[in-house]
This record gives sequence, structure tokens and C-alpha cells, in this order.
Amino acid sequence: MNQKIETLLSQMTLEEKVAQMLQLPYNAAMDFEEALDWARKGAGSFLNVIGEPAKRLQEAACNSRLGIPLVFGVDAVRGHSLNENATIFPTQLACACSWDKEIAREMGKVTAREVATDGLHWTFSPLLCLARDPRWGRVNETFGEDPYLVGELAAATIEGYQGEDLSDAESILACAKHYIAYGEATGARDAYDSEVTYRKVREVFLPPFQKAADAGCATMMTAYGSIDGTPVGIDEHIMKDILREELGFDGFTVTDWKNVTSLVTKQMIAADEEEAAILSAKGGNDMIMASPEFYEAAIHAVRSGKLEEAVIDNAVRHILTIKLRMGLFEHPAKEGKAGCIGCSEHQNAALNAARRSITLLKNNGVLPLSANQKIALIGKNADDIKAQYGDWTFFTHPTPKPDHIAPRPYTTLKEGMEMLSDQVTYTFGCGPLHSERDDLAAAVAAARKADVIVYAVGDEISQVGEKKDRADLALSGRQTELFRELRALGKPIVTVLIASKPLAIPEEAEGSDALIIAFNGGAHGGQAAAEVLFGKEEPTGRLPISFPYHSGQVPVYYNHYFGWHGKSAGGYCEGKYCDLPQDPLFTFGEGLGYTDFAYSNLTFDPATFTAQVTVTNTGKRKGTETAQVYFRDLVSSVLTPMKQLIAYKQITLAPGESQRVTFTLEKMDFSLVNRKEERVVEPGAFRLMVGHSSKDADLLSVDFTL
Ligand code: BGC
Repeated sequence: MNQKIETLLSQMTLEEKVAQMLQLPYNAAMDFEEALDWARKGAGSFLNVIGEPAKRLQEAACNSRLGIPLVFGVDAVRGHSLNENATIFPTQLACACSWDKEIAREMGKVTAREVATDGLHWTFSPLLCLARDPRWGRVNETFGEDPYLVGELAAATIEGYQGEDLSDAESILACAKHYIAYGEATGARDAYDSEVTYRKVREVFLPPFQKAADAGCATMMTAYGSIDGTPVGIDEHIMKDILREELGFDGFTVTDWKNVTSLVTKQMIAADEEEAAILSAKGGNDMIMASPEFYEAAIHAVRSGKLEEAVIDNAVRHILTIKLRMGLFEHPAKEGKAGCIGCSEHQNAALNAARRSITLLKNNGVLPLSANQKIALIGKNADDIKAQYGDWTFFTHPTPKPDHIAPRPYTTLKEGMEMLSDQVTYTFGCGPLHSERDDLAAAVAAARKADVIVYAVGDEISQVGEKKDRADLALSGRQTELFRELRALGKPIVTVLIASKPLAIPEEAEGSDALIIAFNGGAHGGQAAAEVLFGKEEPTGRLPISFPYHSGQVPVYYNHYFGWHGKSAGGYCEGKYCDLPQDPLFTFGEGLGYTDFAYSNLTFDPATFTAQVTVTNTGKRKGTETAQVYFRDLVSSVLTPMKQLIAYKQITLAPGESQRVTFTLEKMDFSLVNRKEERVVEPGAFRLMVGHSSKDADLLSVDFTL
């Protein structure tokens, strides 16, 4: 393989090599003739081009002087979701509620098969950023707030996309993004500076990327943002020493959209395009997304001696290595499986993921509903497929089409409930935005005639995504006003949140008899939520992210440090805002079923790092529990999290059944990153905690020394 690449490299002109580094946005920024011209000049890649145009561009590339095939990238981030006929999965955040690696792997496999069937090769997924500030517009794209869970689900997704071998017909390239600390931008301002140190990067943000590298992820995308004032993509320490040497990443890197251009136009780091090109190439960016001016600039920089050609060679080498490993030269288009796009097998996988994503946070006994109750279903989001889909489908990308009619199959919550009961009356009420259709009085009148109210609240696509960070996480529009009116009727009320992320809903949580979090469940999210409401399916979701009481309370992620000035509680000192409770409204790991589980007899053997606990189903229904393992370093040279997830297991138990659950841990699970930025285990006292959620009250604990 090396020989073939070196031979190819030696035949390439400087122009062809620089062109090979380009990834071009034909849809968004150039017409087709210009795109064809680039393909003939030897461009490396296009993004978000689907169907006939992709085929024609590939033909042009294969007929160019050296015939190096294009690699087509696409944002197939929740299924092949820019193709309107494809299977639309729940968002990553919704999938993460399953805490189930098989769900993630299956989503990866199905997506890969559909992308490959469209002849494409590469998805810009999974997203490994941590959602530690829910104001961020892209929380829906994450697997939540915790580095361990994010890493586990990301690695499984990557394995799903890439399969056994990149050259398999149904394997596509994964792309771990956005490297690194992008989700941590100050104030949750998308693509802004992250005020974190390298130590913090290593402690919190790097571990998921390590798992991605270990899973053999073929590509990684450089973040938009900067860390402490240095744009990530020009930071050779981050891009080379850490990514290549330490993590052992051996694929190619791709910038995010116009990162090179932004060095001149937004971040004001480079005086002109040539300087931006030099910084980016030296930084270790192999493929340059959507900055075509890199072409002239980089060529000029090499010709004038400001940039060594070897830097370009190295980038091209990384790209060609992957193209060769994919078998692109023999099979320029992936083939997949004819007829599989949106097929029933794939729809079932999406339905299964949606079922596993539904998270029940409160239930005073009103759930499950029965088919003979008169139900008033209220709220725009109960019957709005756009809100149910959320971000990154054909509605929003590559160009926004908000008025597009979504093809079937899909099921809204209204349709899902109507499948299970003929006693459901739907009223619009109101939605996340003020609208002329708002009619609170009609909703209240309908509710008055019902035995139970199901109220769907949330957000909608204009409130989600890039450039849509929110300062205020409270329910928008007239949703809270309507909640108050419904509650005043004194009838049982079940609130269902169909939203892109945790919203601040303390009043709705407190005032509802039951609360279900459905996030953006994809094509079958409505059916899945309805099945849980009626008890056809057991709720098994657990929160991968904490819910704040109020926007001003963030961050509320569970794995924070000690040391906030305040009252002493539970034997340690932890602060709080004087006008809000100490804990979040709901915290990481929480989620109920229709049965209960008890934990007993926790043991830990420090010699073998083996923990054991007995879990018993103490309720009347079969159920699935997610047993969660956390640790705390009781005394350490730097501040460490109050608790940190290091393992979990899912077990299904019949009523009355018990199981002894074993966790085989490793010494490094108990590590920290010290002041010298080394990951070490410091000898001393530790606490191991095992139980139902990250809440202290849900955990058994055992102390030990290492
Ligand atoms: C996003 C990436 C995405 C890319 C290509 C960017 O704006 O940050 O996540 O993959 O666009 O569409």
C-alpha cells in the first residue's frame, strides 16, 4: 500500500496535491460546472452532494489525469437523514438515553448501508462533544454530558459505520468531531473560544476521542473554535503531538466549514489567505472543507518557499491512505444494498432506538394510561413531524426547506396514541412559538371533558442547531401559560417533552403527575412515546444529561468539583445559588420504569478491581435496569469530580428476580490528570458507588485504598 501511495504522490503535480486536500461545497457555494472543473483538476472530496450530481462528479474525477476517485462526505448524523427517503433515527442525544451500545452500533450500521447505497463513502459523525451547557444550540447532536458514556456510544457508532473493513460494500468512513473542546465554548456560544486548559482538555474532553482512535475511526474533524485564544486547527501540539502521537490516530483530519477562511475573516489570526493556508497546513489539517481559496494560497506559499512541500505531501499521504484502504480505486462508488433506503428492516431499527430513548422522570401512578380513559392530547409538538425530527434532516440541510412535506413512514405522538386508543381527542393549544393558531381556550375546553391530559411541550427547529444557542431555557411561547390553565382544572396531567435538549421546566415537572422526555425521536418517536404512555413498552431510558431548574443555574453536569463556597451537606462542602436548590431538577442517570429495583450487598476487591452488587426487581412488571458505577478519589493533588461514571450494565429482570452483577474494572479507571498533565492513579483512599442513578440517594458505596 505504501508503495502505491508513494508512486502516486511522485506522479502528482503540486496543483494536484493541493487539489486533493480540498473538500468542496458544490451545493452551497458553487454551480455544477465549477464543481465539475474542480473534479477534473483532482479535487479530493465534495460534501453533501447526493444522487446524480455525485455520480457525474465521480466520473469526472476518475477520468482526470491520475484518476484519483473523490471521497464523498455527507452529514448522515442520525441515519442518512439528508436524503428524505432514508430512515430517520432519533438524534444522538435521544439515542444516548438508551445507554445501549447496540442501539448506537445498529444506528451506525443502518446509516452506513443507506449512505453506501447512495454511492457515498463518509459520514461526518459521530459527534463527541460534551453537552455541559444546555444553552448550546447543538446539544441534540451530542451523546450527553459525560466523557465515559459519550466515548462508549461513539466507539460503538464508529464500529457500526466502518464495519470490519473499510473496503466492505456497506462500510463507510466515520468522522469523530469536533476535535476538541468545541462544546465547551464560553457561554455556550457556538464556535467561540473555550476557556479551558490543556489539563482540562485531557481530563474531560480527550477520553472520548481516545476511544474513537482506538476504534479505528478513519477521520476526525477539527473544531471551529479556539482554546484559550488559539484556534484548534493551527495548534500543532493539539493536532499532532496529542492527536497523532498520543492518541495514535492514523486516519486523515478534515477542517470544519471554512475554518481556513475564518482565520482571516472571523478570528483575525491570519492577515491574508496565504498566511491562513500556511498555518492550517502546518497545523496538521489534511482535508480543507469549504475554503477553496486554500488552493491558490497554498500553491503560492510553496512556490515562494514559505511552506514546505513535504507538509502538503504528508496531508495527501493521509488522504490517499484512507482512499486506498477503502478500495476506492477499484470501486469508486460504494454499493450498499439496492432497495434498502428506508426499508422496513431499517425503520424497525429506528423504532427500536426510539423506544429505548423514552425516559420517564416522574410518575405518581397515572401511567401507564389505559385505552378506556378519555384522553385530551394537547400541544403543537404532539403532531409536528418537524419538531419531532429536530435538526439535521432534509428540513434543515444542506439548504433549509421548512415547508417541505415529509414522506412517510413516520408517526407523530398523536398518530401513535390514536393507534392504541380511540379515546384520544387532539387539540393544538399552542406551540413553542407564538402563532395565529394558538387557542388556549379550545385546549382547556377539551381538557375539561377528559379523564387525563397529555400535554406535549418543547422546542422546534428554528430554536435548534448551529447559530441557535439559547440564553433562556424556559418553555417558549405560551406553553407555560397553557400548562397553568390545564393544571388549574385539577385533572391528572402527563407532560411529554419533545425537544432538542433539556429545557428548564421546574413548574411543569412539579405540577405534572407524570413527565416523559422524548427529545427528538426521529420517524418513530411518536409511536415509541405512545407505546410507553400506554404501557405497551417499558420505559428504559436514563438521562445522559442533567436538567437545570433555570438557565442561570448552568452548568449543572453531575461530575463537577467540590469547593463551591456554601453549606456543608452530606459530610462535604458544596455551594449553591442562594435562590435555587443545590441539585439540578433532574440529574445524569435518572429514569424510571414501571417496576422498581433494589440494590444490595455491594463489594469491591481492590486486588482484582472487581465490584459486585445484587439487583432485585421488587415491582410487579418485568423491567430493564441500568446499573451505574461511579468513583470518587477522596483525597487528590488536584480537584477531582464528586463522582465519575466508569462502568454500567443493563439487566432485564422478571418480577421478584435478583441478579448478582459483576463489574470488572481496571486500575486506570480510577485515574486523574495531575498538574503535569499526566494521567495517573494517585495512591490513597477512594470511594466506589453503584446504583440506579448519579444521585447520592440512589447509590450504595464502599471505600477502599490503593
Ligand atoms: C458543522 C459540522 C458539519 C459541517 C458540514 C459544519 O457547520 O459544524 O458538524 O459536519 O458543517 O456540513
